[in-house]
Amino acid sequence: MNFLEERIVKDGVVKEGNILKVDSFLNHQLDVELFDKMGEEWAERFKNEEINKILTIEASGIGIACIVARHFNVPVVFAKKSHSVNLDGEMYTAEVESFTHKNKNQVIVSKKFLNSGDKVLIIDDFLANGCALQGLISIINQAGASVSGIGIAIEKGFQNGGQIIRNMGYHLESLAIVDAMDASTGEIVFRK
Ligand code: G4P
Repeated sequence: MNFLEERIVKDGVVKEGNILKVDSFLNHQLDVELFDKMGEEWAERFKNEEINKILTIEASGIGIACIVARHFNVPVVFAKKSHSVNLDGEMYTAEVESFTHKNKNQVIVSKKFLNSGDKVLIIDDFLANGCALQGLISIINQAGASVSGIGIAIEKGFQNGGQIIRNMGYHLESLAIVDAMDASTGEIVFRK
């Protein structure tokens, strides 16, 4: 097991409905030392990629992306979620459906902060069905920028987002891939 898998086993809680609660270290209380290790690991895994910007999505991605960015020395841009669409032409927008929250959000990034030619590393906490990622990729494409890589903390390998993104040819590095979990026993099975 790697350092993140060990931490998930120690402090993660498996909930009914295939939800893994990691709010004591990843997305409510934040373990900055852990984020720093994740940054070190992604810097190694993406060392052959050209990256000049990190893109993430609010809310939970922001803290992780900021610490990780120290390992790449690049700025962080986060996509905002909004129910109302500002159609003044100053924003890139994409629609994102949340499997977990059963709602739809518009995600938006100002045209000022994503430019054609940008080489973007996407960072996020969870990958489930990949809807959030698809939205971010769409925004990067609209800007004429390119995706250099995608770093995910926890991929839920039993949902299809990871497979879809890999089949599209993206360099996806998930630090922990959960292939199965059981709310009654708390057991978590990681992909080897
Ligand atoms: P998808 O983007 O991959 O399709 O995933 P999905 O719609 O299922 O995810 C919706 C939200 O729920 C995302 O956060 C995602 O991080 C989170 N999520 C998905 N599965 C789990 C899980 O097992 N445990 C936890 N803790 N979160 C999960 P979000 O809506 O963007 O919220 P936030 O970033 O503002 O926290």
